[in-house]
Amino acid sequence: MKEVILNAEAWVKQLFSEDSTGHDWYHTDRVRHSAKVIAEREGADSQLCELAALLHDAGDDKFHSDEESGRLFVKQWLKGQNVQETDREKIMGVIDTVSFKGGNNKAPETLEGEVVQDADRLDALGAIGIARCFMFAGNRGDAMHIPGEQARDQMTKEEYRDERSTAVNHFYEKLLKLSSQMKTDTGKELAKARHKYMEDFLNQFYSEWEGKK
Ligand code: ADP
Ligand code: NI
Repeated sequence: MKEVILNAEAWVKQLFSEDSTGHDWYHTDRVRHSAKVIAEREGADSQLCELAALLHDAGDDKFHSDEESGRLFVKQWLKGQNVQETDREKIMGVIDTVSFKGGNNKAPETLEGEVVQDADRLDALGAIGIARCFMFAGNRGDAMHIPGEQARDQMTKEEYRDERSTAVNHFYEKLLKLSSQMKTDTGKELAKARHKYMEDFLNQFYSEWEGKK
């Protein structure tokens, strides 16, 4: 498995070097590190988690025509590697739950799925999560915050039925909800500190916005 992990690392690095959608290698690398930490503490298969984490965004539909062809792309790559069929199936199951659209609705079926999903969600939290949120919003041309729309910021997208979003709004529609959705005890613990950091950030942000600090 060690050799396959090295192959996956090289393959994914190469894939992401050609990408301009913001799906960068460093996100994958951070998720891989968190997945290892969580797996070791939770008694999950650490190498399997590491491999699935490395592959988790390689089939993303942002750079495939659709979700299914992205999935097949990864599946095909794995088939050419020295991995047992049962492990290959397990890895694909993990990736299916983590890949974002599926991941939002589908509960992980294995401990390894929980580990990698938690690791991916952790990267949307804390200082890195805040940075990614503002990068994403800026790239899309969204405002960081709209004054006087604080109440609206606290509604979900469905509630205000509007395409418009702001970076600050994304905290309420997603980021502040993630810590209560973590699956493993280690994930919950790590998310708690990052969640608090985001709450502190928002308090400071609103204070500065109003000229209070
Ligand atoms: P992932 O790369 O983990 O699959 P996404 O592609 O959904 O996740 O999102 C990438 C990053 O951009 C995440 O940190 C997410 O919180 C952030 N993001 C997604 N949608 C928005 C949005 N509407 N506004 C601001 N940030 C967003
Ligand atoms: Ni991801």
